[in-house]
Amino acid sequence: MKILVTGGAGFIGANFVRQTLEMRPAAAVTVLDKLTYAGNLTSLADVADRIDFVTGDVADRDVVDPLVAESDLVVHFAAESHNDNSLEDPTPFVQTNLVGVFQLLEAVRRHKVRYHHISTDEVFGDLALDDPARFTPATPYNPSSPYSATKAGSDLLVRAWVRSFGVAATISNCSNNYGPYQHIEKFIPRQITNLIDGIRPKLYGAGRNVRDWIHVCDHNRAVWAVIEAGRIGETYLIGADGELSNKQVVEMILEEMGWDPHDFDLVADRPGHDLRYGIDAAKLREETGWTPVFSDFRSGLADAIAWYRAHEDWWRPQKQAVEARYASHGQ
Ligand code: NAD
Ligand code: DAU
Repeated sequence: MKILVTGGAGFIGANFVRQTLEMRPAAAVTVLDKLTYAGNLTSLADVADRIDFVTGDVADRDVVDPLVAESDLVVHFAAESHNDNSLEDPTPFVQTNLVGVFQLLEAVRRHKVRYHHISTDEVFGDLALDDPARFTPATPYNPSSPYSATKAGSDLLVRAWVRSFGVAATISNCSNNYGPYQHIEKFIPRQITNLIDGIRPKLYGAGRNVRDWIHVCDHNRAVWAVIEAGRIGETYLIGADGELSNKQVVEMILEEMGWDPHDFDLVADRPGHDLRYGIDAAKLREETGWTPVFSDFRSGLADAIAWYRAHEDWWRPQKQAVEARYASHGQ
């Protein structure tokens, strides 16, 4: 099987490539990645001789078309992925997350190639903190940020291309991932690498916002479950029952790294900050048999802390610029 993985030099994509080569050693994997600030070739260094790597833009028809033509399956991870950046400049979000998906859909339509679309639970907006409800595939779309609005738009493009043109596509909407190779602009690695540098963690607002954490490897196993057992045209929500407030997560990181759990600072909140995400993954579990392997968040977090401690060479070059950007917003 020839698989085209877009965004394979990013956090989830790099883990997906590695897991795919492990689980399916006969697969021929091509990675298409623009190598933006979020892409890192060294994330694929240990598998570089087992993949074809193409530097290019998913929004560029001339790049995308020949790569899709020679593939049996496209798994689309590439995106501008960070909410805070989308509040500063939405331009690349519209270009990559909408125009990029349009170009991929047109290519899979032309060449009749199976397509799996990686999306996010943020398309549903947020839930109240005290609401027992969780997101299901029937929850209406109600995105809050430029990032989540472009992801919602891309999901709708996929649905339209399935219905109007018979494209063989599936969609998965996952909750917050953590694990190795996650960019240090994101919440958990930012706090871990700050603590390595002796800096107290920074919580937006009052730290009450809730995210539904899942280990990146469980996300990717679920993606394969949907590709193999999901129904064409369907949407599957991926989550591992991991709801925690940001304050709870920071307290755990502090404890695991040997600090006092109260050693954090409250900083300026994110405008439009979604309160809570929570996933009901019953459809995924029932239809595909998928279950998460990393059921203990604290031990998965300890693994992530150990990974960032052992891979300072991977994140150090970006640390100063990331923190300077946050500092300019009082965060
Ligand atoms: P990331 O920012 O770590 O990586 C994105 C990758 O895409 C980078 O390698 C970047 O170079 C590449 N890229 C960006 N623009 C491109 C373009 N125009 N053409 C080609 N490549 C381009 O992101 P991530 O956290 O790994 O997220 C991957 C996907 O999963 C995204 O679609 C995101 O919306 C989705 N998602 C992420 C999470 C999460 O918690 N991180 C949760 C649910 C869904
Ligand atoms: O839910 C899935 C989404 O999860 C993905 O679609 C996105 O690509 C991914 O970035 C993530 O979005 P969030 O905005 O939830 O993730 P982030 O890591 O930016 O922030 C997680 C929470 O932590 C959020 O409530 C904001 C808060 N936060 C973040 C940072 C960077 C802080 O309190 N302090 C911080 O320093």
